[in-house]
Amino acid sequence: MSDEITFTIDGVEVTGTQGQTIMQAADQAGIYIPRLCWHADLSPGGSCRVCTVKVNGRAQAACTYPISEGMLVQNETDEIREWRKSIVEMLFVEGNHFCMFCEKSGNCELQAMAYRFGIATPRYPYMFPQRDVDASHPDVFIDRNRCILCGRCVRASRDVDGKNIFQFVNRGRETRIAINAEANLADTALSAMDKAVEVCPVGAILRKRVGYAVPVGKRKYDHEPIGSDIEARRAKS
Ligand code: FES
Repeated sequence: MSDEITFTIDGVEVTGTQGQTIMQAADQAGIYIPRLCWHADLSPGGSCRVCTVKVNGRAQAACTYPISEGMLVQNETDEIREWRKSIVEMLFVEGNHFCMFCEKSGNCELQAMAYRFGIATPRYPYMFPQRDVDASHPDVFIDRNRCILCGRCVRASRDVDGKNIFQFVNRGRETRIAINAEANLADTALSAMDKAVEVCPVGAILRKRVGYAVPVGKRKYDHEPIGSDIEARRAKS
């Protein structure tokens, strides 16, 4: 029996294989579904909900939902776009994101997503939370003001680095990323080359002494919106 599965995304027929998620099949077909907590080298976290689509009329996370024969997926509708835009806006007001001073500016997925959704100023009031910065490590710092709680560092440290350095603590609006040491980042086994450092989508975990290495105009998202690489695949086919 063939393990091919055919379904539609916004009316376009897509073929995937048994066991794939909607996100995987869409990527393969060159259809971009916005995402923030998802990373190609990690297991899906399913936490940010930026990838929300409608499956047969019900909201689901595309990064975790498995494909099935004949399913009807909606991706680019005004309603879904508005949900995603709201999530990104809430992420901006929930932390302290000052793009103009941030080393990750131009390479930041949150910033790039805001540009993609045309967000100039969030519609919600800023919360200006008190968050700490840990610069104790010789090669890496963590700035929790910029953390969006995507959990990529948690999954990367656990599943790829095998170190379990990062984990979530507290709940609700008090949730934050903690480290597996009583004191500081310097007391952990973290290396600047760890996957957990590489996968941070924002400027929360950064290597020291490499900031602003790429000039404005040559940064990752200076010319092409986030998701263009996937959409280019479709344009070629
Ligand atoms: Fe799917 Fe974050 S990318 S929930």
